Amino acid sequence: MLDLRLAPMAGVSNLPFRLVARECGAGLLTSEEVDARALVQGNAGTRAMLRHLPAERPLAMQLLGSEPEVLAEAARILEAEGADGVDLNMGCPVPKIVAKGHGAALMRDPLGAARALRAMRKAVGVPLTIKIRGGWDERTLNAVAIARLAEDEGVSAITVHPRTRSQQYTGRAPWEVIASVVDAVAIPVIGNGDVGSHADAAAMRTATGCAAVMIGRAALGRPWIFATDAPEREARAAIVRRHCDLIQGHLPERIALVQLKKHLAWYSTGLPGAALARPRLFQARNASEVKAVFWGLW
Ligand SMILES: Cc1cc2nc3c(=O)[nH]c(=O)nc-3n(C[C@H](O)[C@H](O)[C@H](O)COP(=O)(O)O)c2cc1C
Repeated sequence: MLDLRLAPMAGVSNLPFRLVARECGAGLLTSEEVDARALVQGNAGTRAMLRHLPAERPLAMQLLGSEPEVLAEAARILEAEGADGVDLNMGCPVPKIVAKGHGAALMRDPLGAARALRAMRKAVGVPLTIKIRGGWDERTLNAVAIARLAEDEGVSAITVHPRTRSQQYTGRAPWEVIASVVDAVAIPVIGNGDVGSHADAAAMRTATGCAAVMIGRAALGRPWIFATDAPEREARAAIVRRHCDLIQGHLPERIALVQLKKHLAWYSTGLPGAALARPRLFQARNASEVKAVFWGLW
């Protein structure tokens, strides 16, 4: 059996989408990235990102940051709020983020990364995991060195998205980097990058020896990718309805509207007339209007 997991995705992997992914068959879930400093400072919006339901467990929550004390304190908060694991984002390539030394910037600061992981490891009892890239750029392909260092610091598992920070999301994800991390450490390695089907996931597992496979973009508008048997049209419609209900039931109205537009646009990809209807979907003024446009296409 393949262990398929939903990738942490900012603005996407929130309570409703995570729960839908779990109901479709996803394994361990991970929250979207949570800014450690904002969390420690008590930012209400950041705090709200920790909300989750028992049915989502096991649920890891992901932190974004670089200062050891701040990350340690944030990790304590996540544990207290019920996280079954704390993950450190070491892969985010967004310029504004890496400029602060967060995300993928930790890949080119091994000492800083080790200090951060040591502080976090001491702070919590739940498993500490990391998500890394292949390296900072073509000249620093140091996923293996970072993985070894993390293992030494007591990290329990490592997700590898093998592109470098400078590749962002372009080109093919070089799966051989995942294989080299699998060879280098004894802890489980989760492979990630360009998996669009069960066949891809099986191929990644065979090619790399990874313990589990994480899926990001291919789950957008297609959370049933986690299911063993592809659901028929009616079952897919029920999943979309369930997702809409969760969005409206668990998110504040303004955020819910944005989420409905975004997800229903993904669910409509490939449906006849979808491209033409897209402006109407995004211009809709309330939830009923967005849903009416979507179900008109389905
Ligand atoms: C919209 C979006 C948001 C993302 N946000 C995060 C994030 O918060 N934390 C993280 O570690 N990775 C994030 N990623 C990266 C994904 O987790 C994943 O590593 C990447 O998309 C490659 O996997 P895929 O080819 O299956 O999409 C994000 C990716 C996308 C497309």
